Amino acid sequence: MNKKILSGKNIVPTFFFGAVILGLIFFVIFSFLSNNRELQRETLGEIGAKEADPAVWGQYYPLHYQTYMQNFENTEKPSHFETKPYMEKIYAGTGYAAEFNEPRGHVYTLEDILAVDSARKKTGAACNTCKSSQIPEIIERYGDEYYQMGFNEINDQLEHPIACLDCHDPKTMELRISRPALVEAFARQGKDINKSTRQEMRSLVCAQCHVTYYFEKDTKKVTFPWDNGVKADEILEYFDGKGFTEWNHPDTGTGLAKARHAEYETFVGSTHETAGLACADCHMPYVKIGNTKVSSHYWTSPLKNIEESCMTCHREGSEWLTERVEDIQKKTKEIQDIAGNVVVKAIEEIKAARESSGVDAQLLQEAQEMHRKGQWYLDYVMVTNGYGFHNPTESMNNLGKAIDYAHQAIQLAKDAVR
Ligand code: HEC
Ligand code: HEC
Ligand code: HEC
Ligand code: HEC
Repeated sequence: MNKKILSGKNIVPTFFFGAVILGLIFFVIFSFLSNNRELQRETLGEIGAKEADPAVWGQYYPLHYQTYMQNFENTEKPSHFETKPYMEKIYAGTGYAAEFNEPRGHVYTLEDILAVDSARKKTGAACNTCKSSQIPEIIERYGDEYYQMGFNEINDQLEHPIACLDCHDPKTMELRISRPALVEAFARQGKDINKSTRQEMRSLVCAQCHVTYYFEKDTKKVTFPWDNGVKADEILEYFDGKGFTEWNHPDTGTGLAKARHAEYETFVGSTHETAGLACADCHMPYVKIGNTKVSSHYWTSPLKNIEESCMTCHREGSEWLTERVEDIQKKTKEIQDIAGNVVVKAIEEIKAARESSGVDAQLLQEAQEMHRKGQWYLDYVMVTNGYGFHNPTESMNNLGKAIDYAHQAIQLAKDAVR
């Protein structure tokens, strides 16, 4: 009994003493590490404010650079046409009908942009905007003139693909927005992007490029069509309001808008986004290299490292989860194929109506309007990476609208020749 009381009394000072020793050990390790970092900075100097070369940053952050170099493993870029043959018909009249490959690793941007069909480079310098860490500096140098310049005038100056400077402030390493289009899109909605939280920034750095955009007609400036909101119907409303058409379909005469990889817009409002996730949570999970944990800078399918990317929250097992993803993607693709084929049918019907004599011009015009809508909703889902995963319900919803509008176009085109 006495003994017990005694040991109970002794436990407190022993515990206290232990904690002090532990604290001291941590302090020594911490100061060693931060001194070491200081030393490293002293011998290497600061990273230059305009340093676009990832290899230079790699001397300061070798582990991050190691994961960045893994992007070279992401080499596949199959043609979209292999799995979506209807694309060629839908994009007739644009360079996308000549050639359209799926994306691959961030480090390949400069190689890939040179490989695209020349019909797609007519826009000029602006095509380079999301392809190199040197672009922010170039835009600063030329101002809005940049967008008016020729493709090669800018491309010839580029040496580095997407790299550290695109997303980081070299002085503080904080995340930064380097592309004006995103800052301006926020400002037009009355939002100051600099007030974003850290978690928001973990998506916004991606939203500099993984968004839908258009080239403003007079200035050729890269512009995000978000003034009414970031959803497919709000963006179409924006284009309709401006009377904007990117091209006229040669078979139907329809003035069309072109959707582009709307990963960010699709993600907004999804289950995961409303649960507080950011792109980086799945695409840049913490990985262990030796004894250090770093955010992976290998941007690829999260299913390749599902343990780090998903299983931190999902406890159901990686096989089960992979199956869920595949099920969503397969079903989205099935409905997308239906929508793709119906839009092609609408194009054929409108073409036939235009070629027949005594056609009702009013009904034909209405058919074209339905074609514009149907193709927009299809395109919006079709070119957004992830095959519906980022927002399954919304993707299905948009494809449903595509099918309905395309059917209305078919009916109107038929009625126009009666
Ligand atoms: C496409 C954007 C992007 C690019 C390009 C990029 N990073 Fe990062 N980086 C991030 C994000 C997002 C985080 C996570 C930041 C956070 O959680 O606050 C991060 C975190 C970091 C961190 C902080 C520690 C950690 O592991 O979270 C370092 C250091 C870093 N990156 C270095 C680099 C280096 C070096 C390069 C170039 C070789 C690079 N980054 C390129 C987006 C990027
Ligand atoms: C400066 C523009 C830019 C930024 C910023 C950017 N990306 Fe990319 N991303 C691209 C381009 C362009 C490609 C296609 C490269 C190619 O095919 O040559 C791409 C490709 C990818 C791929 C590979 C796609 C595939 O099919 O293999 C993933 C995944 C990806 N990005 C995710 C992200 C994430 C996550 C972020 C934010 C942390 C981000 N990206 C930031 C422009 C960017
Ligand atoms: C909840 C996890 C999660 C979040 C958050 C997330 N993604 Fe994804 N992403 C995925 C999955 C899963 C795929 C499908 C991969 C596959 O098909 O192999 C994917 C696919 C992609 C691809 C195509 C990659 C490929 O290899 O086909 C890109 C690009 C991409 N996401 C970008 C983004 C961007 C940008 C954001 C933020 C706006 C984002 N993702 C948010 C899980 C996520
Ligand atoms: C930070 C936590 C977190 C991470 C990381 C995460 N999820 Fe989720 N996920 C959730 C939450 C929360 C829900 C909604 C509630 C639920 O179903 O548990 C959800 C729902 C889902 C659903 C149900 C379908 C849907 O969209 O509504 C699927 C499928 C899914 N996640 C797959 C993934 C995959 C694949 C990854 C990795 C690429 C991933 N999740 C990463 C938290 C996460």
